Formats: sequence, structure tokens, C-alpha cells
Amino acid sequence: MNLGLAGSVAVVVGGARGLGRAIAAAFAEEGCRIGVWDVSPDVHAAADELAGTGWRVDVGDCTAVRTATAETWAQFGGVDHLVFAVGIGSGKFGFPFWKLEPEDWDRVLRVNLIGAANLAHAFAPRLAERRRGTVLFLASVAGQIGSQTDPPYSASKAGLINFAQCAAKDLAAYGVRVNCLCPGMVKTPLNRSVWQAWADRQPPEARQEYDAWAAEKIAKLVPLNRWQTPEDVAAMAVFLASDRAANVTGQTVNVDGGYVMR
Ligand SMILES: NC(=O)c1ccc[n+]([C@@H]2O[C@H](COP(=O)([O-])OP(=O)(O)OC[C@H]3O[C@@H](n4cnc5c(N)ncnc54)[C@H](O)[C@@H]3O)[C@@H](O)[C@H]2O)c1
Repeated sequence: MNLGLAGSVAVVVGGARGLGRAIAAAFAEEGCRIGVWDVSPDVHAAADELAGTGWRVDVGDCTAVRTATAETWAQFGGVDHLVFAVGIGSGKFGFPFWKLEPEDWDRVLRVNLIGAANLAHAFAPRLAERRRGTVLFLASVAGQIGSQTDPPYSASKAGLINFAQCAAKDLAAYGVRVNCLCPGMVKTPLNRSVWQAWADRQPPEARQEYDAWAAEKIAKLVPLNRWQTPEDVAAMAVFLASDRAANVTGQTVNVDGGYVMR
């Protein structure tokens, strides 16, 4: 689909794999120049595949984020579309929540919420000065339903949805749009790790294969009765960046097969 994005610059943070990688590929397909940030050393290979530029950055490190922002801005002469596709879980099954340790909260909030704030702080003044651009945060349906699977993860995503609304209000006056995209269930290492943490706590006779567990969950919870794919998420990401979404800001858009309805 030609969304009129050709020639613009898209930077995808957390773009070395998973949904971020699919989103970066979708922007490249629309003819954008691509920057990829990730804490993983795979970031350079991922960027090369899209003829883009990679930066190895930990979003929890404010100084590193500011340095990479300045470098990225200088390299491209500006950034039009910024996507935050970073996310980690605690790696534990979080029910009941008091089984978790305080440090589980620190780590998850530092990456998922403070990381997003670090990024927004670094980019917002530049975007505001240019008086155009879009920011998209990947949150989660878990941030809207009090999901018990991993409370630090759910709380970080709820915080991110709220922060995106604040940022959308602040940046609206400068012509910059900010939205949240919430995937439902997508087969990525992150999704699998959440399930694994849950499965590890089950007695052996109650354990299931990942695909069987997921199929059961999807059939029970998702009206469209299907997995979401990275391409489903990427299609919405490029649409929200385009002028076809020129009147959309401060929204939480679910790509979840109808799991959450309001
Ligand atoms: N997969 C799903 O089912 C699902 C569902 C709802 C929401 N989400 C959200 O979508 C986003 C992408 O998820 P995914 O499934 O592709 O995850 P993923 O784990 O496959 O990819 C996340 C990427 O973020 C990078 N990353 C992790 N910590 C980082 C840090 N400190 N600094 C920089 N990069 C870092 C990882 O190296 C990885 O490349 C996340 O925000 C996630 O919470 C995913």
C-alpha cells in the first residue's frame, strides 16, 4: 500500500527482532530510510538487511539514549517517525504478585516505562522544533485489563499508555502525533517466555505444548479466534505514521483480534 511515507526517516527502537523488526521492514517497504536501535548485537545485521543504520543502545541508560539520539538525528538530518518496540517481562509467573521480588519491578519498569520516557525526552524537543512527526509506543492489552500473568509488565504498559496520552497532549500543539499500539497475542520470543514462566509452575500432568496452550487460550479469549502476526502489527504501525491517520493522536489502538473491546 502506498501510504505516502517514501523518503521519510523511521527509527525503530527494539528493531533487532520480533515486532520491531517487522515494523522496520514495513517502513522500509514504504520507501522510508531506516534507523534501528536495540540492546542486542544483532541490531547491525537487522539494520543492514533493510539498508539502514543500526545503533546498539540500552533504552534504560538515559545518557546512551541522548547520545544515540544526537547521532541518529545528525546521520539522517532529522527523524520523522519514531517507534518504541522494546519490551521485557519479569520472566516469572506473577500470580500472586507477592511471589515476585522488588527487583523484578525495578528491571521491567526501567526498560518498558523509563526506557520509553528516556526516548521521548531525547526526541521530543527536536520533533517539536521541526513541528512534524509521529511517535508510536508499543504497549499491550495487558496494560488495559489488570492481567495477572506478570504484574510488573502489565503495570509498565498501563503507565506507558498514560504517558503516551500526556505526550500526545504536549506535542499536539507542535503538529506531532503520539499513539500507543497494543498487540494481543503474537508468536515471538517474548510471548513464549511469558508462557514458559507460567508452564514451569504447573504440575507435570497439567503441562501442555506451547502451540496447544496458545490455541486453547486464543479460542477462549479472542473473538476472531486467531493469533496476531507481526505483519498485522506492522501494518497498523505504518498506517498510524501516515497522513491517513492525520487526525489520530493520543489513542490506544488494539491489534488483538477483538480481545479487548470498549
Ligand atoms: N509478542 C506479543 O505477543 C506482544 C503482545 C503485546 C505487546 N507486545 C509488545 O510489543 C513490543 C515488541 O515485543 P516482541 O514480542 O517483538 O518482543 P521481542 O522480545 O521479540 O523484541 C523486543 C526487542 O527489544 C530489545 N530490547 C530489550 N531490552 C532492551 C533495552 N533495554 N534497550 C534496547 N532494546 C531492548 C530486544 O533485544 C528485542 O530485540 C514490546 O513492547 C512488547 O511488550 C508484544
